[in-house]
Amino acid sequence: MSISIVILSAGRGSRMKSATPKVLHTISGKPMLFHAIDASQKISDDITVVLYHQASRVQEAIESEYNNINFHIQDVEQFPGTGGAMRGVNPKYKKTLILNGDMPLITQNSLQLLTTGDADINMSVIKLSNPNGYGRVLIENNKVKEIIEQKDCNLSQLNINSVNAGIYCVDTELLNRYIPKLSNDNAQAEYYLTDIIKMAVDEEKTVTPIYVKEEEFKGVNSKFDLANAEVIMQNRIKKELMEEGTIMRFPETIYIDCRATFEGENILENGVTILGESKLINAHIKTNSVIEDSIIEDSDVGPMGRIRPLSYLKGTHVGNFVEVKKSTLNGVKAGHLSYIGDASIDEGSNIGAGVITCNYDGKKKYKTTIGKNVFVGSDSQLVAPVNIEDDVMIGAGTTVTKDVKQGSLALTRTPLKLIPNFFYRFFGR
Ligand code: UD1
Ligand code: MG
Repeated sequence: MSISIVILSAGRGSRMKSATPKVLHTISGKPMLFHAIDASQKISDDITVVLYHQASRVQEAIESEYNNINFHIQDVEQFPGTGGAMRGVNPKYKKTLILNGDMPLITQNSLQLLTTGDADINMSVIKLSNPNGYGRVLIENNKVKEIIEQKDCNLSQLNINSVNAGIYCVDTELLNRYIPKLSNDNAQAEYYLTDIIKMAVDEEKTVTPIYVKEEEFKGVNSKFDLANAEVIMQNRIKKELMEEGTIMRFPETIYIDCRATFEGENILENGVTILGESKLINAHIKTNSVIEDSIIEDSDVGPMGRIRPLSYLKGTHVGNFVEVKKSTLNGVKAGHLSYIGDASIDEGSNIGAGVITCNYDGKKKYKTTIGKNVFVGSDSQLVAPVNIEDDVMIGAGTTVTKDVKQGSLALTRTPLKLIPNFFYRFFGR
């Protein structure tokens, strides 16, 4: 753990064309910066995030999730650029790993790889058939000589296909000496962190290229990049879940939040969406259902079921077009077309088609409690707050506005009128 990590996230991210700071755009349910922080925390306890644009918003978001991250606000006016970002950062350990906040696909293994060996600097290099947009890396005898930013390249340098992937592991003492000496004498008039390579080479330090997987080092700069990174992250999540025993029908149509957890053997049919910190335990989620921040245990949902946050389904069957919100259903059947909100329903109860818990009076939300073995007839409304005890029958079409005692029948019904031959009088024979 004796490595410091600095995550550069002060850039404007203008190509993202968004009011939201670039690094807070989410991938599989989590801001992209958090993916980089999570990978970093696996190898370091000294992590500094460098911020500038919308700094307080990004810092607040980080602090709501992590409590041991250091922050540094870059003086972008005076010292723009990745080298400027490092001015005033104080890494605690002998080696400092520097990465970008917009690399959500980076893994612990790759970070680890960059910290190995005894070179003064390790830097990540990718070979690309199209190096456009990246700094080019001059390598001789497997030692890095220089990084030249694309905008500073001459025609032959533009053809170099070894590019700077943007992650470096640097001897901290060198870093502290070189950063104040950087100049902005270049095409972008910025302080380039990449210029420390030439400084190190001039002092005969060793700079080793570490060849890395392009996929993990892809920077997310636009909404197109964001969508592509999402696909890669989803494929990783689903592959791992399938390896652990989840069945997925047409996995490319399934979306799973990275915070969701799975236990036992789960089945996900096509078009299923699992959001937030949901937990599935031996669940069968059928076509086009959405589960959000809920626990589904030994239960089946859908097709086209929607389970909204803070619900807990256990031994329960929820069928098509049923919406459940902040409710606990234990051993329940709710087969068709229902809204069940702020409710708790106990074993053996059956919720008929079209049943609605009227949980909201326009100002506040209220609870519905339903005991064991309650039969709620189709198209009934349960006006909350309301408590229905065990062994109750509610007739179809009933509006329940009072608590119902154990063993009772509840029924509100306008008497049926029957008028013989009315049809023929109205329409004729
Ligand atoms: C940088 C590298 C380039 C490399 C590429 C890989 C430099 C000079 N160039 O270029 O060699 O191929 O990354 O993706 O470093 N940032 C700050 N403060 C700033 C500017 C940027 O914190 O003043 C942060 C950004 O938020 C971003 C990271 O640094 O996370 C990289 O900045 P970016 O502008 O994307 O650098 P590139 O021009 O892509
Ligand atoms: Mg970039």
